[in-house]
Amino acid sequence: MKHTHDPSEGTEMDHLIAHLAHVEILTPRLQESVAFFHDLVGMEVVLEHGDSVFLRTWGNYLPYDLILTQNPTTGLGHIGWRAKNAEALDLAARRLGADNGGLGWQESAPWQGKAYLFVGPNGQKQKIFWEAEHYQAPEHLASPLPTRPQRTPARGVAARHLDHVNFPSADVLGDAQWYERNLGVFLTEWTEVPEKGLAIFATLSTGSAFQLAFLRDDSGHRGRFHHFALQVDERADVIRAAEIFREAGTPIEWGPGRHGHGESFSVYVREPGGMRLEIVSPGLQRIAPDHKPVKWAPTQGSADFYLSNPLPEAFLEVLPAIPTTDQQASAIDVAGLGNPWDNT
Ligand SMILES: [Fe+2]
Repeated sequence: MKHTHDPSEGTEMDHLIAHLAHVEILTPRLQESVAFFHDLVGMEVVLEHGDSVFLRTWGNYLPYDLILTQNPTTGLGHIGWRAKNAEALDLAARRLGADNGGLGWQESAPWQGKAYLFVGPNGQKQKIFWEAEHYQAPEHLASPLPTRPQRTPARGVAARHLDHVNFPSADVLGDAQWYERNLGVFLTEWTEVPEKGLAIFATLSTGSAFQLAFLRDDSGHRGRFHHFALQVDERADVIRAAEIFREAGTPIEWGPGRHGHGESFSVYVREPGGMRLEIVSPGLQRIAPDHKPVKWAPTQGSADFYLSNPLPEAFLEVLPAIPTTDQQASAIDVAGLGNPWDNT
């Protein structure tokens, strides 16, 4: 579908979302996934609840930001957003409603009050909540520094925050408009294949940097997931993470390298359940109130900033993989363009 709105015009909107709060990942190897995120990524387990284990990065003011749930296939459970306030939550629920992806209210979840459940335009399950308890570290994890909700663990990557999530999308700019219109999560940058006028990637923000990304996928499958990212302070921490993964026998899928989008520096690996994890250090800050979205071409380095580390084919796989003889069904299929990220 051709997108008619020019994203560089920007959109007036209500900003209903404060930030991305958590991600639930489905894994067929729960205990190995938990060990990976605890031992190598340096997260803490805060709760075991049914088939799920809740974990936290050390910099999170909320009790958790990752839920790992046992499931036969690898994929996305849901994404949690924290609303700006109670009124923003009610407004989001009214806008979403039954005819716009709304699924209704959830009474409560661990450390959270009521939440509104919905699916986005490409089928990814999400929720928005306002009421939330802040994390209180037990004595052995408490930091003497008043800004820190938890002491830095002397273990593994020691990821500090949840950074962003990436959804496959059948209509990158159309989906961006949906999130802008309904939630006020706004487009910051997008990548277009110039000769086709085809948007293949977009990043969206609730404030600075970006918290949500879409990767074009014409496979027709809904509700799938590409990756989520955890943040460390500096580029040196990303390189150190790559070396920790190498020594632990975890193959590196892409990087370390820099993206044009957001100018973030990162490395990608797969956790034991098969989900793709990015470790990222921050780059561009988006603070201008009159910011206009920025357009990239792949040849400008939107994915591969230094034009020296091309995106590998394995990176085009999204999850869950669809069992089929048609390889295209488990990979990103972009209008028959092959690898649209080829920057040569
Ligand atoms: Fe990413």
